Amino acid sequence: MRLDIAVLPGDGVGPEVIDQGIKVLEAGGRRFGHEFCLHWGAVGGVAIDQFGVALTPEVLQMCRKCDAVLLGAVGGPKWDDPQAKVRPEDGLLSLRKELGLFANLRPVKVFPMLADSTTLKPEVIEGVDLIVVRELTGGLYFGKPQKQWQTSRGRHAIDTLSYSEHEIERILRVGFELARSRRRKLTSVDKANILVSSRLWRQIASELSGQYPDVELEHMLVDACAMRLVQRPAQFDVIVTENMFGDILTDEAAMLAGSMGMLPSASLGVGKLGMYEPVHGSAPKRAGQNLANPIGTILSVALMLRYSFGLNREAEAIDKATSEVLQAGYRTYDIMKPGNIQVGTREMGGLITERVEP
Ligand code: IPM
Ligand code: MN
Repeated sequence: MRLDIAVLPGDGVGPEVIDQGIKVLEAGGRRFGHEFCLHWGAVGGVAIDQFGVALTPEVLQMCRKCDAVLLGAVGGPKWDDPQAKVRPEDGLLSLRKELGLFANLRPVKVFPMLADSTTLKPEVIEGVDLIVVRELTGGLYFGKPQKQWQTSRGRHAIDTLSYSEHEIERILRVGFELARSRRRKLTSVDKANILVSSRLWRQIASELSGQYPDVELEHMLVDACAMRLVQRPAQFDVIVTENMFGDILTDEAAMLAGSMGMLPSASLGVGKLGMYEPVHGSAPKRAGQNLANPIGTILSVALMLRYSFGLNREAEAIDKATSEVLQAGYRTYDIMKPGNIQVGTREMGGLITERVEP
């Protein structure tokens, strides 16, 4: 199979982890006989420096023409001035919105050999295998008005949490379908005791559940969910939630896996095109030091093979190689414990690559 992939390394540790993801992808291509045609582009701070905008129309167009997008991370202190007209994050948000990627899937699976890397007790994280379906193109991130202005009594700012029935229904359906393919439990997370948009969300979830009698639907308030995620995380199968709630809950959930550096994500939409990126950010303090954990990106490559190309065997080979390397005791700094062997970004990528294509 010949596949076109847009590769957007972005800022900070982005380029370092993307290099490792690509190494693993190409090893998989050689082993299983696929040709991956890579199209590199700038997004985020690097694009601001070069072109004055976080995403150029050319790069967006290139992404549209590809079969999938692989993205590193965006942002950094250099572009963090609150007065700045353009922000690296705008590039990421435009990509999500323009490509119609409304469903962000963030699986959290605990590798048993990393049980000692989390700050939680082993018995709490045992058996954790959940996936968060985060709505990605609506809610607080995109609602209008969104602005800051001056009043006679000081400054004022506003963000808007807005959802249409259509937006809520389609993301809930992703949750129901996914639950159906797993352990058949869907937790719909909202703040229905306060927010009108959440009350609509909850209503639609209840209505839809009639069409999915095989899936057990539970409603949970977002604050309670934050608590349950550290109290009894193994109780969750699929969680579906609003954009901002999902952003916050997935950072929390990442800690179950030991480190932000471990988590992959897939952003899917109406069409066939998907975007894949690690959940972690650009980690500017770690950049350029061969420190960052590339596993979130490598597992994102596996998700791309699985969801965008239907290459399940290939994806499994990457998951398995990653497991084996961890089992052998290799760790990046973020998951390092006494008795393990500490390696850098490149070495971790190399070890996984060797096992994908022995
Ligand atoms: C994420 C990130 C992004 C978000 C930022 C970088 C815009 O935190 O993917 O979770 O808030 O969605
Ligand atoms: Mn986030």
